[in-house]
Amino acid sequence: MTTIGIPKEIHPGEKRVAATPQTILKLKKLGFDVAVESGAGHGINTSNSEYREAGAAVIDKTQELWELSDVILKVRPPEENKELGKHEADLLREGAWLIGFMWPAQNRELVDRLAKRKATVFGMDCIPRITRAQKMDTLSAMANIAGYRAIIEAANNFPRFFGGQITAAGRIDPAKVLVIGAGVAGLSAIGAARALGAIVKAFDPRSATKDQVASMGAEFLELDVKEEGEGKGGYAKQMSDNFLKAEMALFAAQAMQVDIIVTTALIPGKPAPKLITTGMVESMKPGSVIVDLAAEQGGNCALTEPGKIVHHKGVTIIGFTDLPSRMASMSSQLYGSTIVALLTDLTNEEGLHVDLDDEVVRGAIVLHNGKMMWPAPAPPTPVAPPEPGVPTKSTASVEVKAAAHNGHGGDAAGISPVALAVIGLVLIGLGLVAPDKALSHFTVFILAIFVGFQVVWNVKPALHTPLMSVTNAISGIILVGGMLQLIGTNLSVTVILGSIAVLIASINIAGGFLVTNRMLAMFRK
Ligand code: NAI
Repeated sequence: MTTIGIPKEIHPGEKRVAATPQTILKLKKLGFDVAVESGAGHGINTSNSEYREAGAAVIDKTQELWELSDVILKVRPPEENKELGKHEADLLREGAWLIGFMWPAQNRELVDRLAKRKATVFGMDCIPRITRAQKMDTLSAMANIAGYRAIIEAANNFPRFFGGQITAAGRIDPAKVLVIGAGVAGLSAIGAARALGAIVKAFDPRSATKDQVASMGAEFLELDVKEEGEGKGGYAKQMSDNFLKAEMALFAAQAMQVDIIVTTALIPGKPAPKLITTGMVESMKPGSVIVDLAAEQGGNCALTEPGKIVHHKGVTIIGFTDLPSRMASMSSQLYGSTIVALLTDLTNEEGLHVDLDDEVVRGAIVLHNGKMMWPAPAPPTPVAPPEPGVPTKSTASVEVKAAAHNGHGGDAAGISPVALAVIGLVLIGLGLVAPDKALSHFTVFILAIFVGFQVVWNVKPALHTPLMSVTNAISGIILVGGMLQLIGTNLSVTVILGSIAVLIASINIAGGFLVTNRMLAMFRK
């Protein structure tokens, strides 16, 4: 049986661990044996006996744990174990698997070292941020915590309330917060600051964030410069100097008004843009706080020192790089759950396997039996959005007819000519024997399937869930049609088919409402 090993994290200050007793129960359900290094749960206040109760073996010696494990789950990338005088990469058994944060672009030496061990390595930071991989999206899970914790750290260093109050002793104005970068961490910071009662403003070069910021109850700041910040995969692209200058002018004006600035601006693989200058810091009111989440990538503020709190002319600049680790039990739980989700994807009836055709696996894999696999080849470029004036989904039926007329209708191209000929013959046969009325209904039925398929397939996968709710309208039509067939008392094939249609359409409508409700609940407090 495959044994999964969870060592104690050795990075100074790291309190997280790659598995909690709850996630170990799930790993056991997947069919794995689990071993945990003694004291691994110390940072999350979880004792060895709690791990034992969840079914894990507790191993006292670090080296023994690494030796017996087929798969090692870690949080931080392997590093030198000073106590043992050995690098963790060398502790890994030859040919074993390793799953954890890897940052392969920054850690080439480490990756080479693991390649020599013929290791199969998955980077939790490399999981593509696509809809299907949301449950494995560790970066978002951690950024969400970091954004929340950024506000808590700011509040801890801010000498006033966040919310406004009118008291007998006088009026207290609410704190004003500026969030720069409205990605996962930024939106989470907005939510936390609003919940504490602050007035929040936010800025992001990606126009898609405007509605998200507004839906969190913050004001979206806009620039006169028109430049779209959306790059590949929903991330921002590097902005032009002109844009950066304009946004810095905006921040300079805001710095004088706001009490707290949370900066999260980052473009993957690039050093963080310097957006808050020393001059802007000095223009802030005494007691103001800046939390720079991009500290580890060089910081968005000129005065940030990674991992430290700096005081400059009455302003506190927080550059903590371990915000998720400051809420270690929750982040370990979420981190462990994302790993379980990845391992579920990597497991079939025979056990662990690597399916390189799986987009998520291909994106996350760094080494396969020692062979360098990172970075994954770029996915095929999506079809460019239509130019204004070019027909879109709403005119899909017209397009379908036109395509069919041209002899290459939609997915028919994917069907072999023999299959098409057989289908044609069957249809002609049906035409000869079926009554006229049935034939016209059948034609409408086939066209409806074809048009429906084309319309749904033209919708982005990300919109499939809302689309499902919208299909309630179609189910409504089926329901009415089915009910009409039920008029009359004789039990016939029509009545049976009508009843089935009514049943299935009702299930679909009820399901649609349930999904819609669950989606709306995500936005309700
Ligand atoms: P993200 O990629 O979702 O968000 C970054 C945002 O910055 C994007 O919305 C992007 O449009 C925006 N941005 C890029 N260039 C900009 C510019 N010139 N001006 C304004 N906005 C700009 O990233 P996520 O996951 O929200 O993380 C945000 C930051 O937090 C990253 O730097 C990440 O490394 C950091 N982080 C820090 C932690 C800590 O403990 N300090 C823990 C987790 C994440």
